[in-house]
Amino acid sequence: MTILVTGATGFIGSWVVRVLKRRGIPAVLTDIRKDMTRLGVLVDDIANTPFIETDITTPSAVEKIIRDYGVDRVIHLAAFQIPQCRADPIACAAVNVSGFLRVFEAVKKVGGVKQVVYASSAAVYGPPEMYGGGPIPENVVLKPSTHYGAFKVCNELTANAYWIENGISSIGLRPHTVYGFGRDVGVTADITRAVKAALLGQPFKVRFGGRIALQYAADVADAFVRCALSDIQGARVYNIRGEVEEVSEVVGMIQRLIPGSLITYEETPLPIAADLDDTAYRREIGGPPSTPPEEGIRETIQIYSRLKEMGMLTLE
Ligand SMILES: NC(=O)c1ccc[n+]([C@@H]2O[C@H](COP(=O)([O-])OP(=O)(O)OC[C@H]3O[C@@H](n4cnc5c(N)ncnc54)[C@H](O)[C@@H]3O)[C@@H](O)[C@H]2O)c1
Repeated sequence: MTILVTGATGFIGSWVVRVLKRRGIPAVLTDIRKDMTRLGVLVDDIANTPFIETDITTPSAVEKIIRDYGVDRVIHLAAFQIPQCRADPIACAAVNVSGFLRVFEAVKKVGGVKQVVYASSAAVYGPPEMYGGGPIPENVVLKPSTHYGAFKVCNELTANAYWIENGISSIGLRPHTVYGFGRDVGVTADITRAVKAALLGQPFKVRFGGRIALQYAADVADAFVRCALSDIQGARVYNIRGEVEEVSEVVGMIQRLIPGSLITYEETPLPIAADLDDTAYRREIGGPPSTPPEEGIRETIQIYSRLKEMGMLTLE
């Protein structure tokens, strides 16, 4: 078995590679640049894992990797986040939408791939008040308030079309606020950046309040790998829930764990529902319970403290 990971040097990608290496699962990695900043910290023996540096939008690039390495499962993570999609929706659609299509076209052309797992997002949902009381299941009306979320809805529907027309099986996961070492990009990165700022003794304001679904990177990476190994058929899409918390509680937790930290937050909630029902994921894929936020934040503090001692910690 060989699993192709796209976006492999990104935040979630690096944690996914760590899970694959720890479990001895052969992998081939790709990203636009071979930037080892995150992988170098999370994975010890990365040198002997094949890495192909390429733009996901390049015609035939993914197809060539699948052929050359006999890929039979894919974890597709390469994408831009909310701020970039807001600033330049056309450029981002080329990666988030056309890049997604390129992965499925490559799978269709080469054949033999048993599962395509991809990152959708909780950003497919509208604001919480649209849904009344939670927890919210997968099959409600999706009304994203961002281009990013609209692209993710498009991807979920595209995956469904590839199942119906070409029999390509896929699983989309809808994370909300993933945190942990290496989370630097996107609005919800503020939770992780607050931890870094606190360690650096800098004031920091989280740009949102309200409720979020906190998901530790190690748990999310485990979920992606579990899905990639699953032989479930169809075009499945799952919520993953993590721990639903008020931003005020999370900020309080950081302040308790790093005394003297100067973290504040905006009251305005994110326009993305957070109280999501993950019953389908637990029933069909399963897995260990999620890491309690206090434990995940402690682990994040440990990693960043080590980097700080080495003079390698910056807010960015
Ligand atoms: N982090 C979260 O909380 C979160 C929540 C919901 C969904 N997601 C989704 O999970 C996936 C991974 O997110 P992340 O937080 O790791 O983001 P990230 O920005 O850290 O990683 C994305 C990776 O994609 C790569 N990439 C971008 N454009 C590319 C291109 N043209 N060709 C090849 N590679 C390219 C980047 O270099 C980067 O390494 C994304 O699809 C994102 O939308 C993340």
